[in-house]
Amino acid sequence: MIGLQKLHLKIGDYVIRNCSKEDLPSVISINLVSLPEHYSDIFFEEILNELPEAFLIAEKDGVVVGYIMCRIEYGLSVLHKFGLARKGHIVSIAVLEQHRRKGLGYGLIKEALKALKNKNCSEVFLEVRVSNLEAIKLYEKLGFKVISKLRWYYRDGEDAYLMGRAL
Ligand SMILES: CC(C)(COP(=O)(O)OP(=O)(O)OC[C@H]1O[C@@H](n2cnc3c(N)ncnc32)[C@H](O)[C@@H]1OP(=O)(O)O)[C@@H](O)C(=O)NCCC(=O)NCCS
Repeated sequence: MIGLQKLHLKIGDYVIRNCSKEDLPSVISINLVSLPEHYSDIFFEEILNELPEAFLIAEKDGVVVGYIMCRIEYGLSVLHKFGLARKGHIVSIAVLEQHRRKGLGYGLIKEALKALKNKNCSEVFLEVRVSNLEAIKLYEKLGFKVISKLRWYYRDGEDAYLMGRAL
């Protein structure tokens, strides 16, 4: 992470900053209790190594309470019918239940979007369960629009919305 411009943003009593390797056990445990989609430890490490600029955590008194992790993909634009794009992909975001509705989810995404734009992404996308109304509201507040429905996207058979916006 040499040369990484470190973020330090205060939101009330919380700080949003770049994730470090030492934070990964906390991130992994937040993922385990907050979402049905889990990943191997190596996957988290790889995402951190690939794009530390857009792997952010929220913490309070030194305790990690939320995270967002993203990667960059090249391929068909999700916004335009034809053409290729350098796309930011929000892979996972979660805030511990007792720390929700304090603007942390919003802040984590807002900062991750800035980082993706700085890395020359022209658009950003994510997948969200069609039943996850809180998350969908949050994404809409940040300017994301539903692009399509991905049938049977999740292992349990639930559909996802593909949502995206320009950067
Ligand atoms: C989705 C999630 C990350 C939101 O985090 P958060 O820190 O509570 O979000 P914020 O406080 O920044 O909320 C911002 C806005 O999102 C919307 N929102 C968030 N939670 C909401 C809820 N429970 N009900 C309705 N709207 C909600 C609101 O518009 C809110 O703005 P407001 O508080 O001014 O009304 C959090 O609920 C979470 O971790 N959920 C479990 C994991 C998950 O579902 N991740 C997304 C997978 S795609």
